[in-house]
Amino acid sequence: MVMWVDDLRQACKDRLIGNEILFFSEIDSTNREAHDRARGGAREGTVILADSQSRGKGRRGRSWESPSGANLYFSIILRPPIYPSHAPLITLLAGVAAARALSAVSGLECLIKWPNDIFFRGKKLAGILAEMEGEGSGVRFIILGIGVNVNWRREDFPADLGMTATSLHAESGKEISRAGAAAGLFWELEKEYTAFIREGFSARLREEWNRLSWINGKQVTLSSPEGALSGRAVGLDTDGALLLVDGKGKTHRFIAGDMSLQRINKDEWDADERG
Ligand code: BTN
Repeated sequence: MVMWVDDLRQACKDRLIGNEILFFSEIDSTNREAHDRARGGAREGTVILADSQSRGKGRRGRSWESPSGANLYFSIILRPPIYPSHAPLITLLAGVAAARALSAVSGLECLIKWPNDIFFRGKKLAGILAEMEGEGSGVRFIILGIGVNVNWRREDFPADLGMTATSLHAESGKEISRAGAAAGLFWELEKEYTAFIREGFSARLREEWNRLSWINGKQVTLSSPEGALSGRAVGLDTDGALLLVDGKGKTHRFIAGDMSLQRINKDEWDADERG
């Protein structure tokens, strides 16, 4: 029995997300386990939670550092009745939910770096990896994997990560309850997810994302297999695509699933750091 996991189960017992929580003190990757469980018929809202991962997966083939005793690593099984082309919207709503929940639990102003990193003052606090399996023209399931640097001490960060990543503890100086943080995350995710299933990509969700976006107004470069494009990020449009205005004033649309944010213009970054 792990006490903080019991507390979390108690907090989620009447909810969709976290109604069932499968806990592993060590696992290769919660996303891999969630895939297997989802294929085996696990119901929507099931959470795979781990204290540590030996092969935590990041986006674009990167790994996710997952030491024990400090952070949150979990994957949620979702079965949304949507078209596969709408799956990137789940990533956007997860960003809103995560930014809100992590701000509430830490007192820090956590923001979203498109498409789905959670940042505090230019450093990464949390990452989201959504993986979809299709079925015919629909979605069989989506695995929403989230890693949050919670109580990771600054001195324990691997040297290369210290420049770009941080934790709630390193920034707030507070020991944060993992059960409290996870319960808040699950609840915010549940509210945004059920609203999305009811209403689709609503004006409210779009405005909320734009309000929490760290990149709006900044000069950024987005990359895809077809190449890179630079411009000023001006927010999401009504379909959830990110709009970028290039140097000639032309507007371009980008879908989270197809593109990655490669870099933020250094002057803008510095200005943000100072501000
Ligand atoms: C990223 O920013 O690159 C995404 C990181 C996602 C990490 C989480 S930790 C829990 C879940 N299991 C994994 O193997 N990856 C995700």
